Amino acid sequence: MTLVVHITGARPNFPKAAPVLRGLERLAVPQQLVHTGQHYDDRLSDIFFRELGLPQPNINLGVGSGTHAQQTAATMVGLEKLFDEIRPTLVVVYGDVNSTVAAALVASKMGIALAHVEAGLRSFDMSMPEEINRIVTDRLCDLLFATSADAVAHLGNEGVHPGRIHLVGNPMIDTLLRNLDRFDADRARAEHGIVERYVVATLHRPGNVDDPADAAALVKAMHAVADQVEVILPLHPRGRARLTAAGLLTHPRLRVVEPLGYIEFLSLVRGADAVITDSGGVQEETTVLGVPCLTLRPNTERPVTITHGTNRLVTREQLPDVVADCLRTGRSETWPVPPLWDGHAGARIADIIAQSLS
Ligand code: UD1
Ligand code: UDP
Repeated sequence: MTLVVHITGARPNFPKAAPVLRGLERLAVPQQLVHTGQHYDDRLSDIFFRELGLPQPNINLGVGSGTHAQQTAATMVGLEKLFDEIRPTLVVVYGDVNSTVAAALVASKMGIALAHVEAGLRSFDMSMPEEINRIVTDRLCDLLFATSADAVAHLGNEGVHPGRIHLVGNPMIDTLLRNLDRFDADRARAEHGIVERYVVATLHRPGNVDDPADAAALVKAMHAVADQVEVILPLHPRGRARLTAAGLLTHPRLRVVEPLGYIEFLSLVRGADAVITDSGGVQEETTVLGVPCLTLRPNTERPVTITHGTNRLVTREQLPDVVADCLRTGRSETWPVPPLWDGHAGARIADIIAQSLS
């Protein structure tokens, strides 16, 4: 019997998977949802299921945290056993996290057809674990769903047969547009007691938070931003200890809170003067919301958010001046949005998957 199995595990997977699951449900394609357990805190995982109306996972492998090898290996062992039992026709993986590459390795070695949602993104920075995960996953895939033309070009350059590549738009933006009416900036501000202009920050990349010297430089830059404007920083657990040790919490206008749920987070983003981030997904969401995005990274795998969006790459040293510039200029009334980021990517993906199964 036909069975599509979706593999999710970490926070950014959930808003990408939701529209694909919905699209396949509409076409009555039998499917199951697997949670690897890579993320397990309510605020990185369960809250997304509640807020996005995702079905409960059919199974949670409970893999948890560990080194890359531990986490990837535990996921592979769990998935191999599961796939042996349930025999998927097609495995669908999302994004670039360790759960993604682990599932891709297992499915391809078991001869199971494999689809990658968000294929072809490249930062060309092999120091990012996600870049390794993207390249390996795409190499193994049968169906590659791309969010932008640059991703299609990268896959072509790497020798992927054009018949396997589908430019479908961005399912993460499907989720954003579907929930747009729920993003109430005024309410979120009031709940957080924000009375002035403010910026939202998220920081969790190893390149920014793992090394004490990087953490210290980052804290210095963030304090220089907080000298100018209120900052709210929902902090991912990864950076908490290092950034705290570097003095993050000592500025009265820089408020560090727990990671927020999807609706509360994007409500705050919607009303912000700017967002400071190293997240991949947040670069895309700010582009569609028209909020200036200052990405604290030397590169991005999502250049379309610069060419067709509000994103710009900044260094820690540049950050305070760039924020001052944003505060002076204010937000634009109009802004471009990348082609096909229109809320229908999940339906397009579902149609192509259904066709491939028949
Ligand atoms: C992972 C992804 C990254 C993604 C991020 C999204 C990989 C290689 N990295 O990074 O691409 O941007 O998720 O949020 O897959 N922890 C908790 N609670 C949890 C999960 C993790 O406290 O529910 C802590 C643990 O101390 C853990 C650390 O966070 O060691 C890192 O978690 P991990 O899943 O290994 O990587 P992320 O940094 O979350
Ligand atoms: N996000 C959230 N709460 C937060 C920070 C981020 O709901 O406090 C959402 C964000 O809107 C986006 C997703 O998490 O939908 C991005 O995940 P993350 O930044 O962890 O991963 P990346 O995109 O960098 O892989």
